[in-house]
Amino acid sequence: MANLGFIGLGAMGGRVTKRLLDAGHTVTGYNRTKSKAQWLLDAGMRWADTPRAVAEAVDVIFTMVTNTNRWTQWYTGRFGSG
Ligand SMILES: NC(=O)c1ccc[n+]([C@@H]2O[C@H](COP(=O)([O-])OP(=O)(O)OC[C@H]3O[C@@H](n4cnc5c(N)ncnc54)[C@H](OP(=O)(O)O)[C@@H]3O)[C@@H](O)[C@H]2O)c1
Repeated sequence: MANLGFIGLGAMGGRVTKRLLDAGHTVTGYNRTKSKAQWLLDAGMRWADTPRAVAEAVDVIFTMVTNTNRWTQWYTGRFGSG
């Protein structure tokens, strides 16, 4: 099974992550609002405190945030510094 990461665990990202967990993959996730990811932690998802920590833990990363601006903010900010 694959060692996957998921950043952005909203309506889309959360459900895709759950499907990946159900298929037996290891998934490490990050979401700006951790409380919204509790149901995935209860389902076996591993937590990372930052997007960088996701990147350091996995082989493949998925992102599913609101739009390209949000993703760019993350990629140039959070990934770069934390
Ligand atoms: N839902 C659908 O049925 C559907 C269908 C087709 C396409 N899409 C597209 O899929 C994408 C995601 O949609 P969604 O329904 O999953 O949206 P959503 O439920 O609103 O989730 C948005 C995600 O982006 C994060 N986010 C937003 N602004 C952020 C910021 N400034 N910094 C960090 N994280 C931020 C949210 O974090 P928080 O949890 O902390 O707010 C959440 O994880 C959108 O482009 C949407 O148009 C959705």
